[in-house]
Amino acid sequence: MTPSIQLTHLADGQALDLADLENNTWQQLQSALKNESDGFKTITLATCTADGADARMVVLRQVDAERKYVWFHTDARSEKVIQLEAFPNATLLFWDDKRQVQLRLTVETRLHTDDYVADEHWKDLWVGSRKTYLSEKTPGSEQPEPYPGFPVNLGDDLPTEAESEAGRKNFAVIECRVLTMEYLHLSRAGQTRARFQYEPVRKSVWLAP
Ligand SMILES: Cc1cc2nc3c(=O)[nH]c(=O)nc-3n(C[C@H](O)[C@H](O)[C@H](O)COP(=O)(O)O)c2cc1C
Repeated sequence: MTPSIQLTHLADGQALDLADLENNTWQQLQSALKNESDGFKTITLATCTADGADARMVVLRQVDAERKYVWFHTDARSEKVIQLEAFPNATLLFWDDKRQVQLRLTVETRLHTDDYVADEHWKDLWVGSRKTYLSEKTPGSEQPEPYPGFPVNLGDDLPTEAESEAGRKNFAVIECRVLTMEYLHLSRAGQTRARFQYEPVRKSVWLAP
């Protein structure tokens, strides 16, 4: 069986080569930004710690398919920021149930808090998202009772644009320079696994699943 026949199931009946597969995958990441229910919209972020490893979900916020960067937002006071400052390399794990595709990106992260990158992202952030940055409590700190993650008096209400500005000091953007992207497609007709390496040199290769 030739590789192209093996891959026929991949993209709506079209045979794909490595370059097509890479381009399609980056386009899918980009289109996930506009679709809340897209599987690639949420990511498991795995980090290194002094004791081992940690993981949690984050939301995909920006993609640069040309330069191979992705970005997510977080609270500058959170544990993950402390971990990324100590160990900037991380893994971003995506799973799209509809497409049956797993993506594993190894990345080098860079923290943006008090700079134009964070300002630009903050500017475009809806007040509903800004609300979570109004928390007076350090994320992960122990509390005597349940705490909603924003001032209790806000309840279900949204802050005004002016009120939301108090959250800016807690807002961080994590820029992720993609070092490798590994693709895995599950199918009974044959699984497909490939690795796209961007650093230190570009290399694309099929892998045994
Ligand atoms: C679907 C989903 C999306 C989430 N998105 C984010 C996010 O974009 N940024 C973030 O900081 N936390 C997000 N969280 C919360 C984190 O998973 C995590 O609980 C929190 O940030 C504390 O993590 P840390 O203690 O490792 O810093 C999300 C959680 C879920 C379930």
